[in-house]
Amino acid sequence: MSRLLTSSEHDVARAADALRGGGLVAFPTETVYGLGAAARDRGALARLYAAKGRPLDHPVIVHLPSADAVASWAREVPARAMVLAGAFWPGPLTLVLPRAAAVPDQVTGGQDTVGLRVPDHPLALRLLRAFGDGVAAPSANRFGRISPTTARHVVEEFDDLDVLVLDGGPCRVGLESTIVDLSGDVPRLLRPGGVHRRALEEALGERLALADHLLEREAAPHAEPGRPSSPAPRAPGGLPRHYAPNTPAELVAPNVLEARRRELGARVAVLARRPAPTGADPWWLELPGDPTAYGRGLYAALRRLDASGCSHILIEAVPEGDDWLAVRDRLRRAAGGGTAERAGRRTEDGA
Ligand code: TXA
Ligand code: MG
Repeated sequence: MSRLLTSSEHDVARAADALRGGGLVAFPTETVYGLGAAARDRGALARLYAAKGRPLDHPVIVHLPSADAVASWAREVPARAMVLAGAFWPGPLTLVLPRAAAVPDQVTGGQDTVGLRVPDHPLALRLLRAFGDGVAAPSANRFGRISPTTARHVVEEFDDLDVLVLDGGPCRVGLESTIVDLSGDVPRLLRPGGVHRRALEEALGERLALADHLLEREAAPHAEPGRPSSPAPRAPGGLPRHYAPNTPAELVAPNVLEARRRELGARVAVLARRPAPTGADPWWLELPGDPTAYGRGLYAALRRLDASGCSHILIEAVPEGDDWLAVRDRLRRAAGGGTAERAGRRTEDGA
């Protein structure tokens, strides 16, 4: 049974003790809830992978109490990392850097790099300070499922396991952190998130390359800067179906949304940026038209629709452009990487 903890001093100390004892502690961050384990404890990391049902070659992000701790996880801190850490930490940005020798292979997925981040959430920072070292934390969901944005989601997800869950309320960003790989010759965006590409490029004074899986999906509005010849690191969510509901989901252009719904039949739910045309409609969920507010509400909305008993989820496509990049990426994954042509198609790779 997972257990809910509050933000009291006593509960934070208890959570830090649990980490020291090799236990799993879920905690809020500004992006999504993480499922934490002591990042130098191989036994705890093994329990973390087992709890998530995650393949062992999938690296996890190490959460740090402050940027000062980077030196004990990265063998080299490139100048670009200092710039981005200074500009965006604490915040929804993960930096992939050359790993220090002592970082367990379970953290890096056997790669020569490590993902690091200082989260911008008071409760996460209190836990990290009380623990005093890095905490490895993937999103607190079973592998391939929708990331949790409330403590309740986490409890539902790990009902059968012995996990402490610190309750810090709903997450402010609601989508996972932006991941930038700084281990190669050019900085590369691996996952779009709460820190936008444009803001990163402004801070760095140079363009970001896009990971291949983003290039394929994104009819790149920017020109693609030179890519290094070394093979790209395994990218997060390189699996097309990730962050996915159980119910078949499909991305649909706004102008054909209602027609497609009629075509599919009776129990078809809709996630749109406008109210239902017919007034009260229990299976029509509206999210805000602003990308930040939309991102904040997306995962809770997908969970709700997934639990509603509908046969399909139709998701109204969102605008092009950098502001919607992270949302578009998650919607494509929720829909299994496909659009209308792939209606209802299911793949099991992310389960
Ligand atoms: O916002 C977030 O990043 C949340 C919160 C809890 O911090 N965490 C999160 O973790 O989304 P996870 O494990 O669900 O996704 C982390 C992604 C993985 O897909 C992994 O491939 C990528 O980060 N990653 C971690 N270390 C990496 C590395 N060394 N190289 C390339 N990708 C890495
Ligand atoms: Mg995840």
